[in-house]
Amino acid sequence: MYDFTGKVALVTGSGGGIGLATAKAFAECGADVALLDFNPALLETAKPEVEKYGHRVITLQCDVSKADQVEKAVKDTVEQLGRIDILVNNAGITRDNLLLRMDEAEWDAVLATNLKSVFLFSKAVIRPMGKNRGSDGKPCGGCIINTASVIGLFGNVGQANYGAAKAGVINFTKTFSKEYGKKKIRCNAVAPGFIKTKMTEVLSQEAKDAMAKMIPLQELGEPEDVAKAIRFLASDEASYITGQTLAVSGGMAF
Ligand code: NAI
Repeated sequence: MYDFTGKVALVTGSGGGIGLATAKAFAECGADVALLDFNPALLETAKPEVEKYGHRVITLQCDVSKADQVEKAVKDTVEQLGRIDILVNNAGITRDNLLLRMDEAEWDAVLATNLKSVFLFSKAVIRPMGKNRGSDGKPCGGCIINTASVIGLFGNVGQANYGAAKAGVINFTKTFSKEYGKKKIRCNAVAPGFIKTKMTEVLSQEAKDAMAKMIPLQELGEPEDVAKAIRFLASDEASYITGQTLAVSGGMAF
C-alpha cells in the first residue's frame, strides 16, 4: 500500500466520477484532501465519502476556468491544510459537435475548462510546492497529475474542441516537467479511454457495447482504474517519472 501520511492532495472536479475516486484513493492511503468542484451539491455528498478514511477533508467551490477563483482555492488549501503536495487537474467537460456545427461557445467552454484550468492551477501551485521541505529539511517539491484523454492522442469525430484541449494538456505536461524539474515538481498525465462516469452514461447501451468491442480488454473502465494510475504517479514509486502520459484505456488505440 502507498503511504501519503502528512501529504495534502487537491483534486479538481472531485464532486463525482474519476475525481471523487481519486480523492478517495489518496485518503485511503493517509492523505488530507481538498475536494474542489463548481457544484456545491456534489461537494456536500462527496465530503463524507472521503472523510470516512479518517483524514482531514475540505471542500472548495470553484470554477476551474477563472483565475481569481483558482488562486483563492490554492490559498485556502494552504491556509486550511498547511501545504499542498499533490495537484490533480481532473475537472473536464465535453461539448461534442461536428466541426461545421460547433459554435464558438462550445469551443471556448471546452478549452477553458479542460486546458486553461491546467495552466491556472499548475501556475498557482509552483510557489507553495517550491516551499515544501522533507523530514531532512531538503526541498521535496510536489507533483501534478493532469487528466488528459486518449482522444488527445488520437482525435475523434465530433470532438475537435475536446481533442485539441486534451492534446494541449499532454504537451503542457511535457513543458511543465522541463521547466520545474529542478524544483522537484514532477508533472505527468493520464489518458483514460472510456470510463463509466456521468460523462459516458449519456451513451446508449448499443454505443457502449460497440465501444467495448474496440477495447482489447473488452470492457469500459471504472473510475477507480484511473484513480489507481493517478495515485501511482503521485507516489514515491514514480519518483523518477515526469513529463509522461500514461494511457488507462484497456489497451484501446486508434
Ligand atoms: P464527470 O462529469 O463525472 O466529472 C467531472 C467533474 O468536474 C464534475 O463533478 C463537474 O461538476 C466538475 N466540473 C466541470 N466543470 C467544472 C468547472 N468549470 N469547475 C469546477 N468543476 C467542474 O467526468 P469524469 O468522467 O469523471 O471526467 C473527469 C476527467 O476525466 C475529465 O477531465 C474528462 O475529460 C476525463 N476523461 C474522462 C473519460 C471518461 O470516459 N469518463 C475519458 C477520458 C478522459
